[in-house]
Amino acid sequence: MRLYVNIDHVATLREARRTDEPDPVRAAEAAERGGADGITVHLREDRRHIQDADVHALRSSVRTVLNLELGAAPEIVAIARRLKPFQATVVPERRQEITTEGGLALQGANRKVADAIRRLTDAAIRVSLFIDPDPRTIDRAAELGVPAVELHTGRYAHRWRRSDVALRALAHAAAHARARGLAVHAGHGLTYDNVQAVARIREIEELNIGHSIVSNAVFWGLEEAVRRMRQLVDEARAQALC
Ligand code: PXP
Repeated sequence: MRLYVNIDHVATLREARRTDEPDPVRAAEAAERGGADGITVHLREDRRHIQDADVHALRSSVRTVLNLELGAAPEIVAIARRLKPFQATVVPERRQEITTEGGLALQGANRKVADAIRRLTDAAIRVSLFIDPDPRTIDRAAELGVPAVELHTGRYAHRWRRSDVALRALAHAAAHARARGLAVHAGHGLTYDNVQAVARIREIEELNIGHSIVSNAVFWGLEEAVRRMRQLVDEARAQALC
């Protein structure tokens, strides 16, 4: 299972003072030393954390792979086409939200998302769509011809102590997406406490985790925070496969 580390909140901290530290490039290096398989950043339209200069610096410094999260806005898609990250994960984006609050709405004709997929694919970028773990939305993603989806784990993550309904829905959605020929990624709200149940879902091959890792980096350092998450993921995966 691949672990991609989202370092947006390293930039959030820097932007709190509009200064030049902490540097996302150094954060990516530390995450890679800790065992990250990829680095994820979200270039938001409001540039509240990651800036254009960050994505350019990361594009040349990252030794693993860069996964760029982006809304379907043509201006951001144009930046992604020039940047050519290994992967682009298309997410819904609203200016008022604190973080990405739900998956993409794909029912009906979503011309903006379809255009973004086409333009990114034409630029030889692997496209993943961030969607809710819902079979109809997965079917629509498959129809749109993308190779991968990232299932939103928020519903599970926010109530994982109290309910396994959301976990079952996630496992069911992962199996459905795999059966439709999609590579299955997952993320949002995953922590050191709740990650293992998700890592045991065999069809999921990639996790994107940010907030919890960066939060615990305050106490352990980023390299160690990634190493501990990596260990939990690997342990759970080994249990699931034996
Ligand atoms: N995946 C996607 C598509 C996201 O938008 C985010 C949040 O930026 C994450 C994963 C990571 O979520 P968290 O920061 O809660 O780990």
